Amino acid sequence: MKFLIINGPNLNLLGKREPGIYGQNTYEALCRRLKDFAAAHGSTADCFQSNHEGAILDAIHGADGVYDAIIMNPGAYTHYSYAILDALKAVDAPCIEVHISNVHQREEFRHKSVTAPACVGQICGLGLYGYEAAIGYFLSRETNP
Ligand code: DQA
Repeated sequence: MKFLIINGPNLNLLGKREPGIYGQNTYEALCRRLKDFAAAHGSTADCFQSNHEGAILDAIHGADGVYDAIIMNPGAYTHYSYAILDALKAVDAPCIEVHISNVHQREEFRHKSVTAPACVGQICGLGLYGYEAAIGYFLSRETNP
């Protein structure tokens, strides 16, 4: 399968950004890990990160018909981007939403995702493993429909 991994604002600063919450691993290490994980399962993973909402919308639009699935951590846009919600609804590529931290243990404003209703499901609180879990779900869905 072909996966597009989309990471939103501030996730390029993984490793430096609040390591007690997001861990010590860098964004580059995350991408390497996901590419290796996908390759080990006969698949590919392309990584895209942007701090700009419009660029994320363009990436979602561009994924349609090109990728089998999207795995997205929209960062703070999760909590207020109706534009990302609408973009996910506009394309056929299914999406799983991933959060590194357990957003439900954090501030109230992080408890609500406006983007999750357009996703197959949401994974949170499992650290970087959450991205692999999302890939694993799509792979198992392919073999056990
Ligand atoms: C996050 C949680 C969001 O609330 C936050 O704004 C992020 C990262 C996570 O991965 O835990 O940027 O999506």
